[in-house]
Amino acid sequence: MDDFSVTDSNRIVLSSDHAAIPLRQAIARHVAAQGWDVVDIGPTTPESTPYPRHGEAAARLVAAGDCRLGIILCGTGQGIMMAANKVKGIRCGVCADTFSARMIREHNDANMLSIGARVVGEGLALAIADAFLAAEFEGGRHATRVEMIAALEG
Ligand code: RB5
Repeated sequence: MDDFSVTDSNRIVLSSDHAAIPLRQAIARHVAAQGWDVVDIGPTTPESTPYPRHGEAAARLVAAGDCRLGIILCGTGQGIMMAANKVKGIRCGVCADTFSARMIREHNDANMLSIGARVVGEGLALAIADAFLAAEFEGGRHATRVEMIAALEG
């Protein structure tokens, strides 16, 4: 993992709906053990709860700068990703492989990662989180494209 300067935050928010609680908690333990300052905003009880609420809550912490990055989960990873991407300034991709998890940071400057708890097992999910957190945005020609995404926000 990168060394952070005193001005860089290593705070990361985790959130999910009811479909992904054990996997979210496993990821939280895993990344906390690497030194990330984990803000796990739940939920912790298994009642059905709508993924847009949890995607939005995590996305607002990232968009406000309270957290540097976010990892969110639902059954497929898709619905919570769609909700997070509605928040201005959020670039969230769903990943079920480590290559994509690295590339959404390097090329797309993704600030949030979404994982489907009914799609990938724990071992792969931890490797996906590792690939996402280890990567850095490359800038250059990719910066222009990311700026084009921002320009689409109404
Ligand atoms: C909940 O059953 C499920 O719809 C949700 O976790 C997610 O997969 C939606 O995208």
